[in-house]
Amino acid sequence: MEAIVVEELTKKYGELTAVDRVSFKVSEGEVFSLLGPNGAGKTTTVEILECLRTPTSGDAFIKGLSVRDSSIVRRIKKIIGVLPQEFNAVGNLTVYENVELAAAAKQASDLKQVLEDLGLWEVRGRMFSKLSGGLKRRVGIAMALVGSPEIVFLDEPTTGLDPEARRETWLYIRRLKKQGSTVVLTTHYMEEAEKLSDRVAIIVKGRIAAEGEVKSLIARHGGKTKLLFEELDSRAAEMLRERGFEVEQRPSGRVVVRVGSDSEMFEVLTALRSMGYHVYPEIKQAGLEDVFLSVIGSKLSNTGELT
Ligand SMILES: Nc1ncnc2c1ncn2[C@@H]1O[C@H](COP(=O)(O)OP(=O)(O)O)[C@@H](O)[C@H]1O
Ligand SMILES: [Mg+2]
Repeated sequence: MEAIVVEELTKKYGELTAVDRVSFKVSEGEVFSLLGPNGAGKTTTVEILECLRTPTSGDAFIKGLSVRDSSIVRRIKKIIGVLPQEFNAVGNLTVYENVELAAAAKQASDLKQVLEDLGLWEVRGRMFSKLSGGLKRRVGIAMALVGSPEIVFLDEPTTGLDPEARRETWLYIRRLKKQGSTVVLTTHYMEEAEKLSDRVAIIVKGRIAAEGEVKSLIARHGGKTKLLFEELDSRAAEMLRERGFEVEQRPSGRVVVRVGSDSEMFEVLTALRSMGYHVYPEIKQAGLEDVFLSVIGSKLSNTGELT
């Protein structure tokens, strides 16, 4: 059974169509990412799924339950756990007290377990307001995970975190997947979406521009692998061109050769060697970044802006 089915979901704020006929499905046990710049409609989409906003048209189903049916909101809320984008907790309560509040709201009895799993048991007595940004976010994740929800929504879980706290968060997300949870992640970090997700939907201006398994998106839209040579003379470049390779000589002196497979890469390297060039390139495999550029026509900066 699908964990989530979204059908032609649309949300308008006055004149603005923030979410525009968005459809996707998330299978049970999958990590699904909505990847897009600021203002793309990610939060609006997930908040509709979390029954926090109502759609203008279209529908979405959480384990078969329609988010439009206000009589079953309670049932949906029992199935899901949520880390909101603007997560905050009560500053003058401790870690334990904050997570306890979330557990009580869900009638959950796994408070201690969750705190231990997230490495928060040792700091349970500390005041929330005194925690580092990384620890605060971890408390947010704990509050999302009490009651063992089947589906977990994490809205930009690592935005604003330092690299170490980010990697830690990735570990927790991987662990969630291992435990069989379904995870819906929203992010503007390419690397995060690429590393963690089974499937990704690229969303810009409320519309899904591409959707699919990370690997197949890269295979379909990512383009070829690039071999970056620091220095290669024109004779070598010409020889590779004659063999049918796409060769780009950059003003910096760098030469980029594009190859479509490992055997092509091998061919390039052996041809160079046979001509006396003992050089080894930096190999840049296509990634989601290339997919994004190819599908959207612009890049996505680290701060989530289109450039
Ligand atoms: N409550 C609201 N009222 C009016 N406009 C909104 C509201 N919430 C979001 N928007 C607008 O809808 C668009 C999508 O916002 P949002 O869903 O927060 O995108 P994202 O999470 O991808 O950054 C943005 O242009 C935003 O300004
Ligand atoms: Mg958002």
